Amino acid sequence: MPVLSEENATITRHRDSVTAPRTLTPDDAFVKANQIALNITHIVNPIDGKPFISVDEIERFAPTVVEQHHRLKNGEGDCRDGDTPMLGWQSLPDEISTEHLDEILSVTGELSGQIDAFVSLGIGGSYLGIDATIKALTHTYFNQLPREARNGAPEIYFLGQSTDPDYFRDTLDMLEGKRVGLNVISKSGTTTETAIAFRILRRMLEDRHPGKIAELIIATTDSTKGALRSLVKRFGYKSFEVPGNVGGRFSVLTDVGLVGLAMAGIDIHEFTAGFRHMKKRTDGDDFWSNLSMVHAAVRHLAHQKGKKIEVVATNSAAIYQLTRWMEQIFPESEGHGGFGMWVSPSMYSEKLHANGQMVQDGERNILETFLRLVESNNDIEIPVDPDNEDGLNYFPDAGHTMSFINSLVIDGPAFAHFEGGVPNMTVDIPRRNAFNLGQFYYMMERSVALSGYLAGHNPFIQPGVEAYKRAMFSLAGKPGWENDGKAIKSAIGKMKLKVI
Ligand code: PA5
Repeated sequence: MPVLSEENATITRHRDSVTAPRTLTPDDAFVKANQIALNITHIVNPIDGKPFISVDEIERFAPTVVEQHHRLKNGEGDCRDGDTPMLGWQSLPDEISTEHLDEILSVTGELSGQIDAFVSLGIGGSYLGIDATIKALTHTYFNQLPREARNGAPEIYFLGQSTDPDYFRDTLDMLEGKRVGLNVISKSGTTTETAIAFRILRRMLEDRHPGKIAELIIATTDSTKGALRSLVKRFGYKSFEVPGNVGGRFSVLTDVGLVGLAMAGIDIHEFTAGFRHMKKRTDGDDFWSNLSMVHAAVRHLAHQKGKKIEVVATNSAAIYQLTRWMEQIFPESEGHGGFGMWVSPSMYSEKLHANGQMVQDGERNILETFLRLVESNNDIEIPVDPDNEDGLNYFPDAGHTMSFINSLVIDGPAFAHFEGGVPNMTVDIPRRNAFNLGQFYYMMERSVALSGYLAGHNPFIQPGVEAYKRAMFSLAGKPGWENDGKAIKSAIGKMKLKVI
């Protein structure tokens, strides 16, 4: 039997998804086969005779969660950034029209035909969801594939999420000799990392195509304000809008995410349908049928019982980037006033051979959440070896393939860690498609919003992030920040230097 089947199903599925009819209402069979599930067996079953959190405890807490769920739905409570209630993401899945999605496809389709490489510039919520979704749904070595195997999409790069000059330079090298288009994404329009990247890329394009770069640039920003909107008006770039009532980390279903996904050939209609489906599943008041409420309740109770670290682990390299998306949306929304759980993204098995020791046997302050990809796109046979020196023939002898072994990379740790005093839950993601990704994002957005409300703070602002910016601007001598700069330098100057 050959070790590999003829075609890589990630490539064929990407191709099929692009040629399939665009629809916001997938048929019942598809929806039934693509239900995200939350398994809390290893939370509510006894360890040493006592469950970490009992079903009774969850039920006693449920009315509080339902109450906060109502307040969020009704736009009550601490949800404003300035004057704006930041709850637009809640109803967004029902508000996006097919026409709008088609318009995005038309703009990206036109640009795609003119370029070899597309660079998405942005940081935080203006970056992570796009990167995570593309990685989840396309080939690991997307940019190295021939263009037909990418289903016609250009190569996709990301900049603006770091100011590391070596990384930046290496990425620029990859753009050498290629026709380049870009989407600069910044809701505020003033984020330093993104703005620096845009400056450099704009200069690169201007050097290559003097006076003709407007058609190669898309800007996604606030509809009226900010430096980026001014540049759009001045230079006539194509532009998309970030709704004022949707914060960065909740914006993957806005044009922030959709433009990049469309460029990568991801079915944005199906993606939206996934959000809609999870919205329907989490709109209701019945606690036990509402994944977001149960998820938020378990995390909140776990935190109250001393779990300060959440290891979010997956068995899928494609899905791994979702754990990084969670690493942003949860801490940036929860880390207020001394509250919050540290999210640690982990790719298993790799991390089992590293911090796995700590999870099993270190301080018992860890909650673990698995993102299990139930069905991978491909499977690989384990060859029978007549010598069987490594003793592994029992796998092929029992008909076990690599996907079976990979499922054990969740099942094994889930049981062992549970027994070792690490309660854990599993989010089952049936397979790699845009519908499931949409469901996943919406479930987590609702859960983290609830988490903030349960903790009694506003989960839609991030004043803590401003502190580093203030220090950075001051140290850089930004005009208007000179006094802060002096104060910081003097404070640093007063510290006793200790370098070993
Ligand atoms: O969630 C958030 O609001 C942040 O992570 C932002 O997305 C991030 O700071 C980027 O901001 P902007 O889009 O304004 O450049």
